[in-house]
Amino acid sequence: MKVDVTDYQKILNQIQSELSEVKVTGKVASYIPELAKVPADRFGMHLYNLEGESFCFGDSDARFSTQSISKVLSLALAMKTIDDDLWKRVGVEPSGAKFNSLSLLEDNFGIPRNPFINAGALVVADVLVSNFSNPKTAFLTFLHELTGDDSIAYDEVVAASEKSEGYRNFAMANYLKSFGNLENDVEEVLDFYFHQCSIAMSCKELAQAFIVFANKGKLLHSDRQFLTGQQVKRINALMLTCGFYDEAGEFSFEVGLPGKSGVGGGIVAVHPGHYAVAVWSPPLNPKGNSELGMAALERLTTLTGYSIF
Ligand code: DON
Repeated sequence: MKVDVTDYQKILNQIQSELSEVKVTGKVASYIPELAKVPADRFGMHLYNLEGESFCFGDSDARFSTQSISKVLSLALAMKTIDDDLWKRVGVEPSGAKFNSLSLLEDNFGIPRNPFINAGALVVADVLVSNFSNPKTAFLTFLHELTGDDSIAYDEVVAASEKSEGYRNFAMANYLKSFGNLENDVEEVLDFYFHQCSIAMSCKELAQAFIVFANKGKLLHSDRQFLTGQQVKRINALMLTCGFYDEAGEFSFEVGLPGKSGVGGGIVAVHPGHYAVAVWSPPLNPKGNSELGMAALERLTTLTGYSIF
């Protein structure tokens, strides 16, 4: 694949101008009260390639709430920490259901379908709570090593806001506990989980963080092997099949890249061997994924002519 450097910027400019015309019908997430305050018209995109070159438009430097995008990073840390034991407690199959579905847990006897639905991410959070004396510090250290940027931090206001209305996640964690699939106290696991989801990053920072998944586990900024090739293969496979909940098929069909969305309106996608790209637009479609973000990534793989397929 060869996309000229000048073409990437031209393509991003075209995506910005085409999509600025689109009438967005989605709604900014409001079940986490703090997220409802984010202006709906924010729109940014940043593509970072393996040559270390950056292409961007709009609000690509503004930090926003990563929410479920952070589940990829907590999974990476858990896989680095306990490796295959994790898969005894969480599955690797698409859920075909909403990210916060409770009924699937009943059907699967307390084993979440995959690590990206909330139930699965809570089990991953439990693994981190069990394995680190200070899991919040351990996760931040992991992010700082991954990105080479020590300023990435939790947004305490967003974490507290999610906790204040987090009845469904409390129900989910208690339900997991009733099946014996949480080792730690529900409160402790949820405190870590709400903090993990509150991590604030920009499109630029997310693209730079996710380049490791395009580079077979090697950090681009230091050339260090940070994750194994097998860990990266598995995480990319999970992003492709489970990264968008009951819209994973649609994202694969339209975009053709592994990716992960968050209710803050961000989406990150990876083209292994080529680039990582992040896009941010807060209004969500009915499945909880950024409406313009999905469209922007569809335009990217259509206009470049390249996806993983
Ligand atoms: O647990 C929650 O509901 C949020 N902290 C994260 C959900 C989320 O981002 C779903 N993604 N599209």
